Amino acid sequence: MRLTEPTKALQLGNLSIMHLIEVLELDAGSGIPLEPVGSAFTPQGSEQGDEASFDDSLDGSLDGSDYDDLFSDDERDLRDLSDTDPEDDESVPDGVPPEVTIPQAQLETILGQMAVIVPCKGEDPNTIEGVLSGIPRGCLIVLVSNSEARAYKKEVMMLRRFCRQARPALAIHQSDAAAAAAFNMYGLNDLVTHVGGTPKRIRNGKGEGMMLGIALVAALCPQRRYVAFVDADIMVPGAVNEYCRAFAAGFALNPNPGTETMVRLRWASKPKVRNGEIDYTCEGRSSQVVNRWLNKLLSAMADADPTGKLAAARDSEIIVTGNAGEHAMTMDLALNLRLANGYAIEPFHFVELLDQLAPGNQNAHADRLGYSTGRVPNLQPVTIMQIRTRNPHFHRVTDDSHVRSMWASGLGSIYHHLPAPLSTPASSPFSKSFARGEKLRGDILDFLADNNEENEDAKGELVHEPPRPRIYPPVSQLDLDRFREMVRSEHKTLFCLNLQHFKLPRPNTIVPVYQQYGVTPPL
Ligand code: GDD
Ligand code: MG
Repeated sequence: MRLTEPTKALQLGNLSIMHLIEVLELDAGSGIPLEPVGSAFTPQGSEQGDEASFDDSLDGSLDGSDYDDLFSDDERDLRDLSDTDPEDDESVPDGVPPEVTIPQAQLETILGQMAVIVPCKGEDPNTIEGVLSGIPRGCLIVLVSNSEARAYKKEVMMLRRFCRQARPALAIHQSDAAAAAAFNMYGLNDLVTHVGGTPKRIRNGKGEGMMLGIALVAALCPQRRYVAFVDADIMVPGAVNEYCRAFAAGFALNPNPGTETMVRLRWASKPKVRNGEIDYTCEGRSSQVVNRWLNKLLSAMADADPTGKLAAARDSEIIVTGNAGEHAMTMDLALNLRLANGYAIEPFHFVELLDQLAPGNQNAHADRLGYSTGRVPNLQPVTIMQIRTRNPHFHRVTDDSHVRSMWASGLGSIYHHLPAPLSTPASSPFSKSFARGEKLRGDILDFLADNNEENEDAKGELVHEPPRPRIYPPVSQLDLDRFREMVRSEHKTLFCLNLQHFKLPRPNTIVPVYQQYGVTPPL
């Protein structure tokens, strides 16, 4: 895979946010010899090629004379790049970013250590199968479902069919009673709903499903060093393939040795059909809002920083992947990061990393607004790689209210969890910074008021605060050995396909899981 090289970064203490890099060529580095062989086009007839035969081969409808003067004599060498050293190629204008090619073998090594978690709730099994078909073969597939019981049965049957050629995979349902009991007893009880004091099930939500997936991979397949997330409603399998390979490229290209890596994708386009035409818009409706406010957060942190170390963060507009549903992490990072519920999970990554790793924050007042609980102290330095892929992103169309609630939960992540010292109460020495944080919060409220779509008449009026995300402790807080033993021995909805090192003690039965174990079906 050939990409622009990651050269520029915004360094914020122990957090490095790389500027967006781009996938340039999907298949470069595949091992196919770069020298033209046999059938490659060579103009025939003379050593330099016969111009006439070249022209004749053009579509007859074209008037050859239009092309005769296209290249002046001085530019003849543009026709043949075979002897050109790319460094000396004058046809490449200055300022073109440097490029890097990652050999296919290196991508495959990384993909072979990656688990791809596919959260799904009520998607068409054919669509899910399309997503699976795009996941490179070395990756472990992990389907985490929150679908209706019957739909889950169909999903598992599809997965079994798909994996019949020795493809390793895991599947689990979010209402799995054994997983809920293990979470409840062994360290992640916040993720479990209780009815009448009895643990019932893991909470609904995409973020919660992803956390279950992380726990499952860490417990059952600890040799997987990377974990990635790909939505189940993506309509183009080739896009999924590119996303996974781009994740691997992101890991390979992290320029900061010894740091954990997070790779976040930005799609080339997110097309919408309007009046029968495809409109290739670049940025999703929710991303437009969330990216803007995450960048405002960076500016606020720069304004509030008395040392001037964060000056480069002001107006940087560097964050372009605030909502990246398609993202990946080193497993150590996935295990040690606090994560947010539902669709707040992706924007909250930024908020949490800024809070934990930007300068001036680590020693800030521990109990400010009471939300530091459960954090892993001394998170390792992190590099965020942002990559623009080539495929258009087609997925299930969602309505405006869904999009609105998604960006509102993104804003809620910022509003309720401003990094220290923006959120340190006024009595502290950081009081000026606190005022800057309050201004940002006020601006968010104004924005919500101006975009109050619930009531047209109330536009511009004061609205409620954005939703407060539920913040879960890191998955590393779970006792993974006990979790593994519980889901293995008591397994209800867990399926392990073609995992040589991990076998369930008895065969799975798909049908009666809900009735037999009294598990509450998903809402
Ligand atoms: N396991 C599980 N549990 N999966 C869920 C749940 C749940 O409670 N809710 C939704 N999902 C699955 C969906 O089936 C889908 O595969 C994926 O999570 C994303 O949900 P969508 O409803 O398709 O979200 P979206 O398309 O509006 O938003 C996606 O893109 C955003 C960026 O534009 C999500 O990935 C967002 O998280 C992301 O920010
Ligand atoms: Mg979707």
